[in-house]
Amino acid sequence: MATQVSERSDACDLRYKFDFSDPAVRANPFPYYESLLQSPPLMVQRQIPWALVSRYDDCVAVLRDHQCYSSVNPMLPGTEVYDAFNQIPVMTFVDEPVHARLRRVAAPSLAVRRMENMAPVFLKLVDDILDEHWQGRREIDAVRFLAHEVPTYAFGHLLGIPKSENEIIRVLGVGRANDGEFHFHDPRFMESRADFIRHLVQTRKGQRGGEDLISLAIAAHEAHEKIDDLELFGMVMVLVTGGIGTTADLISGALYQMLRRPELAAAIKRDHALVAPLLEETLRYDGPIHTLFRATTCEVEIAGLHIPARTPVCVVIGAANRDPRKFANPDEFDITRDNSDHIGFGEGIHFCVGAAPARVEARVALQRVLQRFPRVRIADGWTPEYNGNAFGRGLATLPLILD
Ligand code: HEM
Repeated sequence: MATQVSERSDACDLRYKFDFSDPAVRANPFPYYESLLQSPPLMVQRQIPWALVSRYDDCVAVLRDHQCYSSVNPMLPGTEVYDAFNQIPVMTFVDEPVHARLRRVAAPSLAVRRMENMAPVFLKLVDDILDEHWQGRREIDAVRFLAHEVPTYAFGHLLGIPKSENEIIRVLGVGRANDGEFHFHDPRFMESRADFIRHLVQTRKGQRGGEDLISLAIAAHEAHEKIDDLELFGMVMVLVTGGIGTTADLISGALYQMLRRPELAAAIKRDHALVAPLLEETLRYDGPIHTLFRATTCEVEIAGLHIPARTPVCVVIGAANRDPRKFANPDEFDITRDNSDHIGFGEGIHFCVGAAPARVEARVALQRVLQRFPRVRIADGWTPEYNGNAFGRGLATLPLILD
C-alpha cells in the first residue's frame, strides 16, 4: 500500500507546517487548526513521515483504538521530543496489559470522591498561598504566585511531603525553582529529580499505613499489583511531572479566559458556581495539552488515509476541540455550551487519571481568588506569551491588579 506523503509545501497551506514543538506555532496554533480541520488526516514529512490526525471523530477513533495506535514511543528519528520520561516505564507511554496494571495502582487514590473530599484541604492551601503572596499587594503574577503554587502545595500534600520541601516539588513539577535557576532540560535537574524520588520511595517503604499516594502505591504493590521498583519510581515521576504543570496551565488559562471578557468575569464573580463550567470551556477552547503521541503497530487506514506500521501519529486534540462538526461556533468561548465531550483530558484507556485533582484544585483556587479579591483584573498593556513543549502550552505570566 502506498504511503501518501505529499510533496506539497505550499506556503499558504499551514497544515504542512504544523509542529507544536515549534515555539512560533505554539504561540498561536489556531490558524493551523483551522487549516488542518478542513481535510482528513494527512501524512507530513518531518525527519520521517508522520500522520497528523485533527478532526474530532478521527482523534477519538485513534485514541480509542489502542491496539493499532500504541502509546509506546518507538524512538524513531524525531520522536525523541515526545519521550518525556527518558524511557522509564510510566502508564502514559505503555500499552496493555502493563498500562492497566500501573493505572490500577494510582487511580483509586485520585478518584473523584476522594478528591472532592479533599476540597477543604486544598482550600486551606490556597488561603495560605494568598496570605503569603497576595494579601497587601496591588499587583501579582498569577502564574508564579498562584497557578504554579496551588498544584505544588496540593501535590506536596498528596505525596505526604512537608511544606518545607515544597521547593523540590515545584522544581519537579514546573521545572523551575522560584528563583528561576533550574530548567527541565538541564541534566542536573533530571538527576536531582531522580535522586529525590528514589529517596522518597525508599523512605516510605520503611513506613506503614500512610495515606499519601506513594504509600498507597507501595501498599498496592505489596498486596497484589506487583509493580517493580522502576515502575514505582516512574509512577511518582509521571504523577508529579504530569500533574503540576498541566494544572498550573489550567488555572492561569481559565483566569485569563475569564478576566479578558468583562461580562463573563462579572457573571462569574456574581455566581462562583460558574467556575466549574469556565474550567471545562477552557479545557476545550485552549487547554493545557494540545497534541498526543501515538505510533501505529500495524498498517491502518483512517478516513481514507493509509498509514504504514511503525509510523508516528500526532493526535491534535487542540484542533479536535475546535472542530465545528462537533462544537457549534467553536472559536467562541461560551461557558453555557455543552462541551462535556471535549477531549482536553484525552479519551479511551489513557484518559487523564488526574482529571479529578486538576478540576478540584483549579475550582477551589479560582473561587477563593474571586471571593477574596473581587476586583481582580488583568494589568493594562500585558499581552500573553506562552511556555510549552511538544504536548502543550501555558501562560508564561499573568499580571493581575488586585485593588
Ligand atoms: C488540567 C490538567 C491536566 C490536563 C489538561 C491533563 C491532560 C492529560 C491528557 C490529555 C492525557 C492523555 C494522554 C494520552 O492519551 O496520551 C492525560 C493522561 C494522564 N494524566 Fe493528565 N492532565 C492534567 C492533570 C493531571 C494530573 C493532576 C495528574 C496527576 C495527578 C495527571 C496525570 C496523568 C497520567 C498519569 C496520565 C496517563 C494516564 C494513562 O495512561 O492511563 N494529569 N492527561
